[in-house]
Amino acid sequence: MSQLEKIDKNQLPLHIAIIMDGNGRWAQEKGEDRLYGHYQGVESVRNVAEGCAELGIRFLTLYAFSTENWDRPEPEVTGLMELLAETIRQEVSTLTRNNIKLQLIGNIAMLPEYARLGLEEAVELTRNNSGMTLIIALSYSSRWELLQAVKTIANDVQKGNLLPEQINEDTLRRHLATNAFPDPELMIRTSGECRISNFLLYQLAYAELYFTDTRWPDFGKEHLYEAILNFQQRQRRFGKTGEQIQRESATDMH
Ligand code: FPP
Repeated sequence: MSQLEKIDKNQLPLHIAIIMDGNGRWAQEKGEDRLYGHYQGVESVRNVAEGCAELGIRFLTLYAFSTENWDRPEPEVTGLMELLAETIRQEVSTLTRNNIKLQLIGNIAMLPEYARLGLEEAVELTRNNSGMTLIIALSYSSRWELLQAVKTIANDVQKGNLLPEQINEDTLRRHLATNAFPDPELMIRTSGECRISNFLLYQLAYAELYFTDTRWPDFGKEHLYEAILNFQQRQRRFGKTGEQIQRESATDMH
C-alpha cells in the first residue's frame, strides 16, 4: 500500500502551514549559491501545493519570507523578491486551472513595487476560485501581526467604538492577518530546526507540529503524505483527557 493510499481522506487537516527551511544549506552543500536553493525550492512549492490540492486540503500557508529575512545580504533579498514575483506571474494561470485562490499575509507594503503589484494582481485574478486557498506569508512575522492588531484595537477603544471589557478572543482574531482562515491543524518545518520562528504564534496554539530533517528543495509529495500520516496517528486533545476524547468519538460514531 502506498503512503497516499494509507491516508484517511476523512481525517485530513483542514489547514496545513509550512516553514520551508533549508534552501540555503541545500545549495551550499552542493557548492552552489544560496539563491540556487531558492530556485529549487520553487519546485517543492509546486509539488506540495499540487499534492495538497489533489488530496482536498482546504488551506495551505507557506512561510516564504519573514520580517527578519529583510536583514539578509541584499543580493539574496533582491533575488528572492524577483523569484517570488516571477514565479507567481508564471503560475497564476495554473492556479486558476486548479481552482486555487491565492492570498497574502504580511507587511506587503515593504515589498518592492514590481513584486507587490504582481502579487496583488495574482490575488485579484484568483479571487473567485473556490478550491484550495494558498496563503503566502511574505514579509510576515507573528509579532508584527499581533502589534498591528493591538494598535487597531487600541484605536477603536480610543475612538469610543469599543469598550475594553468588550475585547475577547474573537476581537483579537478578527484583527489578525489570518482572520479569513481557520487555524492550521498541522505545521511542518523542514531542515531539522525545531522552532516556530515568529510564524503564526497565536494561530498554532493547538496545531500538531511536525519536524523533518529533509531540506525544503528535497521535500516532495511523498514527504507531505508522511507528515499527514503522522498527523493522523496523533490524538488531538485540546486540553481534555484522552478518556474524554475517546468517549466523544465513540458518541460521534453512534
Ligand atoms: C528558507 O531557507 C527559505 C526561504 C527564506 C525562502 C523560501 C522561498 C521560496 C521557496 C521561494 C518561492 C516561494 C513561493 C511561495 C513561490 P533558508 O534560506 O533559510 O535556508 P537555510 O536555513 O539553509 O539557510
